[in-house]
Amino acid sequence: GCGTAHHAGIVGKYYMENIANIPATVEYSSEFKYKNNPIDSNTLVIAISQSGETADTLNAIDEAKNRDAMVISITNTVASTIARMTGNGIYQYAGPEMSVASTKAYTSQICILAMLAIMLGRKNGLSQLQAGKLIKKLRRLPKLVKNTIEMVKGEVKGLASRYENFTKATFLGKQYMFPTAIEGALKLKELTY
Ligand code: F6R
Repeated sequence: GCGTAHHAGIVGKYYMENIANIPATVEYSSEFKYKNNPIDSNTLVIAISQSGETADTLNAIDEAKNRDAMVISITNTVASTIARMTGNGIYQYAGPEMSVASTKAYTSQICILAMLAIMLGRKNGLSQLQAGKLIKKLRRLPKLVKNTIEMVKGEVKGLASRYENFTKATFLGKQYMFPTAIEGALKLKELTY
């Protein structure tokens, strides 16, 4: 993927390795066709794209198909070019993007990647007990997201006015929060252009 979708892919890599015990790499779509990618018919390539139309991701799908990899997509846009090109995949059904681009797309992409990793993990050594625990955590998410959004009214508004005149920001994060930190930085840049 590109941009936000690429950041979701980094989270996806962690899930594939930590949950499903499957080696995974994450690639920037625009770089994919300019390098040698050691993939073959035993490789699953997951193209991630909110719009389903990003040209670099389309090119990367072509390249992966030329290498005989199995290609699926995670996209928010039904019948988009990427959905049609890949044939197989998962629709996000996260609703249309409004206001800040790719916010709900990102959260929905990483949830889908978690579910995919749990499913693949069950075929690769992940116990029913461990999978059940992860699913239980996923089920708590809607409530946690609702609580977080409610914070916008109070705490977040206060933080925003405290930092509104700052000209630089650094986002830090470890493990799963590492890609989310890069995504946070991207969002701040997009909003403050
Ligand atoms: C981030 C943003 C871009 C997109 C990127 C990929 O908010 O808008 O970085 O994430 O162009 O777009 P999609 O996901 O539509 O392929």
